[in-house]
Amino acid sequence: MTVKKAVIPAAGYGTRFLPATKAQPKEMLPIIDTPTIQYVVQEAVDAGIEDILIISGKGKRAIEDHFDRNHELESRLEESEKEQLYNEMRHIADMANIHFIRQKEINGLGDAIYYARYHTGDEPFAVLLGDTVIDSVIPVTQQLIDAFEQYNASVLAVEKVPKEKVDRYGIVGGKQLSDKIMEVTEFVEKPDPATAPSNLAIAGRYILTSEIYRALEQTKKGKNNEVQLTDAIQLLSKREKVIADTIEGKRYDIGNKLDFLKTTVEFALRRKEFAKDFAAFLKETVKGL
Ligand code: G1P
Repeated sequence: MTVKKAVIPAAGYGTRFLPATKAQPKEMLPIIDTPTIQYVVQEAVDAGIEDILIISGKGKRAIEDHFDRNHELESRLEESEKEQLYNEMRHIADMANIHFIRQKEINGLGDAIYYARYHTGDEPFAVLLGDTVIDSVIPVTQQLIDAFEQYNASVLAVEKVPKEKVDRYGIVGGKQLSDKIMEVTEFVEKPDPATAPSNLAIAGRYILTSEIYRALEQTKKGKNNEVQLTDAIQLLSKREKVIADTIEGKRYDIGNKLDFLKTTVEFALRRKEFAKDFAAFLKETVKGL
């Protein structure tokens, strides 16, 4: 079965980014001029995904508006002959078939994914966390789909993180099948560095079979008193093979302020229209430190 659907959970409060996220979704925070979630949707589309379900929630309407058409804006751009901008705005609304469902209460990532059960049915589906952007030559979702097809198993994207940071992530442990692929038997959400099974962290991208819904039904509240997707995947691995793929790419977690700043700087240095001026400004600024 090929993977044609993706689920993007985007219901969290974004408390790490207050006050900016008091009245706007964290997924709409722009890296330069493009909301984070648009990069995430683009990654899914680049991997051949045609249908996306965004799990939204209270205060997330701006995401729906962003992927909808804005006829008034389009006519204004057309009248003022801003053709390129006009085309860009049309493109955003045409990227994929995007659907929305609201998570009724904040109850964890596992609970958010459970809302997708009627939408994805028996099909395997991709999960892309809405606050993580990954820059890579081959879209990470594509890398996972390739592994899914090769191993016929649910796949988690993982990357090595420094040992002292394992308590920020879901961490996996198991048997290495190749340089990149591990058959996973242990999944721990935000472990203590002293007891973590490895330093391989779940990087915010997954391909899951529909069995995950059965597992979620049996998953009790875990870390932070929330239903954790990591715990459900642990249950899934008792019934089906689950693998971890060490992805190629650079992950940007825009959920915290310092990483967001770094992401903005790196992305700005790649933008043709102002990379040169911006680099000169940075050099000048660094000199003064
Ligand atoms: C979530 C997942 C965690 C994963 C992380 C990646 O945690 O629960 O397993 O490693 O995303 O960013 P959160 O960052 O939402 O606390």
